[in-house]
Amino acid sequence: MFDWLDVRAQARAKAGLRRRLVPRSADSDVRNLAGNDYLGLARDPRVVAAASAAARRWGAGSTGSRLVTGTLDAHAELERDLADFCGVESALVFSSGYLANLGALSALGGPGTLLVADEYDHASLIDGMRLSRSDHMRVPHRDVAAVAAALRDRSRKRALVVTDSVFSVDGDLAPLAALAAVCREHSAGLLIDDAHGLGVLGPGGRGAPAAAGIAGAPDVVVTATLSKSLGSQGGVVLGPARVIRHLVETARTFIFDTGLAPASVGAAAEALAVLRAEPELADRVRASARALAERLRAAGLDAAEPAGAVVSVRAPSAQQALDWAGRCAAAGVAVGCFRPPSVPDHVSRLRLTARSDLTEQDLDHVVDVLVATAPARADERLLAT
Ligand SMILES: Cc1ncc(COP(=O)(O)O)c(C=O)c1O
Repeated sequence: MFDWLDVRAQARAKAGLRRRLVPRSADSDVRNLAGNDYLGLARDPRVVAAASAAARRWGAGSTGSRLVTGTLDAHAELERDLADFCGVESALVFSSGYLANLGALSALGGPGTLLVADEYDHASLIDGMRLSRSDHMRVPHRDVAAVAAALRDRSRKRALVVTDSVFSVDGDLAPLAALAAVCREHSAGLLIDDAHGLGVLGPGGRGAPAAAGIAGAPDVVVTATLSKSLGSQGGVVLGPARVIRHLVETARTFIFDTGLAPASVGAAAEALAVLRAEPELADRVRASARALAERLRAAGLDAAEPAGAVVSVRAPSAQQALDWAGRCAAAGVAVGCFRPPSVPDHVSRLRLTARSDLTEQDLDHVVDVLVATAPARADERLLAT
């Protein structure tokens, strides 16, 4: 029955698309530029202490789905706090960002709704659109005119435009203010996945919608993860109270899923408190990403200009990207590797994530390692033009 899996595995290996799990040891001294702990809070003693205090108080698990026994005071407090921080009416915590996107899109979409998505949107948004059974279409990357045309020409009464704020592939920013204006003009909603914006963009890390001046708008819904800047685990949907009410009663990934574990809730709440008290963390991670990209470009590598913490560096092929990332790891620097099918333009990339706690020496060392391990420089596709 499963012989075909081996055939598929061989084809993936031949195309340089093999993927494997590499366990990370707790005391590894590798410089980690592959994770999403943008503010360095995942191991912050205050956040770790809050996680263990919440586990001691509530137990290891939340014991049930949110509508049964799985809503604790701690969930309600975190939801109020996240809504207040992000400047929206209401928030709902899910057990991951992936499930927040699936839940929001399947509850807000449906056969009577057109979903319009940027071609670079994250896989969880694409999966959410598929699950929603809505008519959906992909538009060219950051193309506001294409979104306007899709909304103008639609046959469905309801429409929702779906976009990442900071795109995971190249680390660039969606034109959020322009998208919000077009949505309003055409009576459509806007759903923004701010996974890479929360804690990094906007005043004090209040996110990309706040930076674009559209936080709290009545036709805007924001999703985010608690697992990147907030160093914890879990996801959230933020928006008008009536949207959140609708999700509580209809979002299947909320209703039929065990509530987020107390330790994760406690960690996210403490991380948010740290971010409120130290808003400069957000400025620092952005400065660190910009410095990293500038130095990589100065060294001749093809690094994109980062809007937030994600710095993307083009590689000549999937296999070369994989080998390059492997050489970086061997030299003590962990970097991510994006290859098809995760990259819609089929260009493979190394993906580095800046952190607010990177020092000047860290940045120099990372750039030295990337340059020393780069594929042959004769390959013109690798070099910046
Ligand atoms: C843009 C985007 N959306 C959603 C997710 C999913 O979030 P989570 O890891 O909490 O499931 C991620 C993270 O991997 C992401 O990068």
